[in-house]
Amino acid sequence: MLLCYRSRNILPRFLRFIPQQQIIMSKYSTETLFTDSQQADCYAKFRPQYTDQVFQRIIDFCKTGCSDFDLAVDVGCGSGQSTVPLARYFRKVIGVDVSEQQILNAPTNIPNVTFKVSSAEDLGFVKAASTDLVTIAQAFHWVNEDKFFADVSRILKPGGSLVVYGYGICELLPKEADGVFQHYYADVLGQYWAEGRQMVEEKYATVRLPFPGWIRDDSLVIEKQCSVADFIGYMGSWSAIIQYNKVNPDDNLLKQVEQRLQAVCNSDTESVESKLTVVWPVFMLMGHKPK
Ligand SMILES: C[S@@+](CC[C@H](N)C(=O)[O-])C[C@H]1O[C@@H](n2cnc3c(N)ncnc32)[C@H](O)[C@@H]1O
Repeated sequence: MLLCYRSRNILPRFLRFIPQQQIIMSKYSTETLFTDSQQADCYAKFRPQYTDQVFQRIIDFCKTGCSDFDLAVDVGCGSGQSTVPLARYFRKVIGVDVSEQQILNAPTNIPNVTFKVSSAEDLGFVKAASTDLVTIAQAFHWVNEDKFFADVSRILKPGGSLVVYGYGICELLPKEADGVFQHYYADVLGQYWAEGRQMVEEKYATVRLPFPGWIRDDSLVIEKQCSVADFIGYMGSWSAIIQYNKVNPDDNLLKQVEQRLQAVCNSDTESVESKLTVVWPVFMLMGHKPK
């Protein structure tokens, strides 16, 4: 099946140079990623949670721009991982995601947070110069950069902040577990990752924000102790696993990974008993719209 984006102009940046007839929808399109309900469910349960330090860093940066905390818009919000913590700081927070399935998994009980199904390239429902902060967490590699930046510039107040952030490839402890993980991540699943994955691996090294004086902060990490079962749940939320399973429906890849991780964790008990330490490097790009 061919990719059916409306025009070449709105192709995500990593697809722009590929002739459209060569783009196979099932492999690269966000129209088939993040729409699977099982994946969205795994996403809500197992994706790493950003730490308080990440949000404090965002808030500290906002204070160096304009000092209002009226409205934050979190784009590519998934099921609210990057949206909900902003509710502590802003009078109103809007989470935006192109996947209805993700939004259906977002919490509905936070009075100052609303969610909207829409694309990063169409923030037309947000008033011009109304927004103090735009965030996009672990989603920028999916969007059309030029259209997104144009809309961000439109909705931000002068001095308002744009924070593009995410986390790179995790490392596991014990070290033997990391060896198993890296093997499946790169050797087995390598060809099933969408091309934007490279941007994540490089921690958005080639991304430039459209505002003068923007900065990077690579000082933070997310660290989590979890069971092998939880880590397998996290892998279940990966787009590459969904693609792998489509092509190899008879393999139970996650079961294989689970057994190998269990073995190196020296545990012959149930998978919930084995503990792993997982560390993700956080990268943040931050800029203010000029006043
Ligand atoms: C890896 S998830 C990140 C979710 C959350 N922000 C987090 O940090 O965990 C990427 C999200 O981007 C969304 N997405 C992909 N392309 C998008 C687009 N063009 N506009 C809005 N959301 C998009 C996907 O549906 C998915 O929920």
